[in-house]
Amino acid sequence: MRSKVTKAIFPVAGMGTRFLPATKSVPKEIMTLVDRPLVQYAVDEARAAGIKEFIFVTSRGKGALEDYFDSAPQLEQSLRKSGKKELLEILKSTNMGSGEVAYLRQHQPLGLGHAVWCARRLVGNEPFAVILPDDVITGKTPCLRQMVDAFEETQSNIVAAMEVPDDKTSSYGILDIQEHRGDLVLTKGMVEKPAPGTQPSNLAVIGRYILTPTVLEKLNRKHVGAGGEIQLTDAIDDARNAGEDVYGFRFEGQRYDCGSKAGFLQATVAFALEREDLRDDLRAFLHEILMSEEAVSKAAE
Ligand code: G1P
Repeated sequence: MRSKVTKAIFPVAGMGTRFLPATKSVPKEIMTLVDRPLVQYAVDEARAAGIKEFIFVTSRGKGALEDYFDSAPQLEQSLRKSGKKELLEILKSTNMGSGEVAYLRQHQPLGLGHAVWCARRLVGNEPFAVILPDDVITGKTPCLRQMVDAFEETQSNIVAAMEVPDDKTSSYGILDIQEHRGDLVLTKGMVEKPAPGTQPSNLAVIGRYILTPTVLEKLNRKHVGAGGEIQLTDAIDDARNAGEDVYGFRFEGQRYDCGSKAGFLQATVAFALEREDLRDDLRAFLHEILMSEEAVSKAAE
């Protein structure tokens, strides 16, 4: 029988130190691209892929994230009273249904693999998705939807993959390629954050995964890998060593690394330029500052 993917894990326990001081009191995942929190894009993408259960692996200080997904009856009532229908609809679009969301804590920051392992009992013995909200991906068909469609064919582990330049491979999980099969790339290995010059390819893992329960079983081993952390990459490769297929999937779409300030800013500008209510003003403003910067640098030549 073919399995369906209905559960997704969102590892959101990280402290977001790259965004301090903002993240001193605001969880990074609540920071907004224009006016929607990062995590909302991840949830929307999961929903579009048919996910029914949303499992957040959190940590101390992430209360605002749970509040965000709660219904807000007072706010809704006040918008209803003042006839702000559009805002009311936007607000309602963020509500999670009763019982479809679960939060559990990763009590120690032991790595991405450990965060995923924390959700093992909620996942049980079925395939599941993992979404890293830092990786924001836009495109005609949402990335996870593309992957779920591919999974329906392969019924094997699939990780989103994208080429990165040589000097960036040490920041990612990197695939060792066995064979190209269209959008899919069969792997013969996977290395987390290889030392510069030792990368098996330039194909990097991006934060979307569809995994089999074998990966959870492999995480039981609590093997400590790169950076002294329990790595998801290692457990996926262990599942491959145990005989399962692991594919990289070259998704269609633009990926923004919102775990970095530059990526976050790029996504903010790109998302704002997509918005009818903001596009014209922003475009005019960008044009103006770019022109004046050019003028200044020309004058300095
Ligand atoms: C994590 C994964 C890594 C993957 C990356 C994608 O790393 O461990 O394999 O390539 O996400 O964004 P992190 O960015 O958390 O260091």
